[in-house]
Amino acid sequence: MTKTILTRKAAALLLAGVLGAGAAGLGARAAIMLTNTVTGQPLDLAEAPEEGRDTKAVKTFLETGRNIYNEDPVCLPKAHELFLSMCSGCHGHYAEGKIGPGLNDSYWTYPKNETDQGLFETIFGGANGQMGPMYGALNMNEMLLVMSWVRHLYKDDPKGAVWLNDSQRAAFTPFDANAKHIEPAEELPEACGGPAG
Ligand code: HEC
Repeated sequence: MTKTILTRKAAALLLAGVLGAGAAGLGARAAIMLTNTVTGQPLDLAEAPEEGRDTKAVKTFLETGRNIYNEDPVCLPKAHELFLSMCSGCHGHYAEGKIGPGLNDSYWTYPKNETDQGLFETIFGGANGQMGPMYGALNMNEMLLVMSWVRHLYKDDPKGAVWLNDSQRAAFTPFDANAKHIEPAEELPEACGGPAG
């Protein structure tokens, strides 16, 4: 009797191991269904650079659609720097809008951008006109970092910040360009998907 139980347990462990190895072998596989913002076609995550695929943030995002970099004070400086180099030329320094629309308020051309899943989809696969896909320029970890800075720049009522959890929302202060804010930094800390992160 005991023997049977042990054997079953061993078999289950073995099976779990095989499935685990299989899933890891497939690389960036999302538990959530990610689609292009304009066409609705599934995104091909294999198009993203190898680098930055296996960070804790990317894994968590692909499992849950949540961005763990939101309001993370350690990662926001790098997130700020990425936004300045990749997005501000079109969307404005504070995402107030320029040739691309403002990203700092609760109005979205594509309503799904109020979720982090939607925002990732738009950044990864692009939208119309000059908003090209970003998978050639940013890896997936960097996309999550950029997203956290876009969210940090939000200037409207925190009640609309649906991407934050309850305690983050309670602590969130709408962005004020005239107030002291987090400076950009080049360095990618380990905790933000850096070399040993
Ligand atoms: C070359 C100019 C350009 C760059 C660079 C650019 N964008 Fe855009 N972006 C646009 C334009 C133009 C649109 C409007 C496209 C549309 O309506 O389909 C847009 C739309 C968007 C939207 C949809 C907004 C909404 O209201 O639903 C998001 C989100 C966005 N961009 C994020 C980003 C982020 C983040 C970056 C940097 C990683 C970036 N963009 C870089 C030009 C740009």
